[in-house]
Amino acid sequence: MDRVIISPSILSADFMNLEQEIFSVKEAGAGWIHIDVMDGHFVPNITIGVPVVKSIRKKTDIFLDVHLMIENPEKYIKAFAQAGADLITFHYEAANDPLKVISLIKECGKKAGISIKPQTQSKEIFPYLNDVDLVLVMTVEPGFGGQEFMHDCAMKIPQIKEKAPENLIIQVDGGINNLTSKICKSLGANSLVAGSYIYGSDDYKKAIESLI
Ligand code: DX5
Ligand code: ZN
Repeated sequence: MDRVIISPSILSADFMNLEQEIFSVKEAGAGWIHIDVMDGHFVPNITIGVPVVKSIRKKTDIFLDVHLMIENPEKYIKAFAQAGADLITFHYEAANDPLKVISLIKECGKKAGISIKPQTQSKEIFPYLNDVDLVLVMTVEPGFGGQEFMHDCAMKIPQIKEKAPENLIIQVDGGINNLTSKICKSLGANSLVAGSYIYGSDDYKKAIESLI
């Protein structure tokens, strides 16, 4: 298998220096940039939205991995696509019609991801594995960075892998560090999101290398 794709979550970056924070992790070996969008409804926190994605896209061609933790994701797909997202991941729990959201993303010419919260079983998304490019397994309750990795959730990785087409990307988000990354990789994950572990370190290169 190819090397695992590291997607640093800018939720833990210094927003006053966002440009430098993004360039630094890119330079340090990050494959993607993970952008957490929260609406204060689907999750109890509010973060960043379309204008920030647009500003980031103006300055860099790095692959933008946008994680929507919002209700009614279908309403915002076009806006995030036009702002410059490369991959748009929505939550299965937030979508009335997941297939419709997936086709909206595809119509915009973007990669589509579907995510499940800790309480959602992997079998719920089995019907969509052939339609998406990526499945995001949350290993914390979505909403905040810096939480502890939920080991039970990682068991969904092999369950999904067993049913998935060869080229499906299985991404894990929440509590990823140099130890939990090993667990996820050994279970079959090939993309890891990490916020506080990378941006909380004083050497981004060393932190990213310890995850690969
Ligand atoms: C949480 C977000 C994560 C968050 C991860 O809801 O989806 O992407 O930034 O943060 P860490 O890596 O600190 O757990
Ligand atoms: Zn995320």
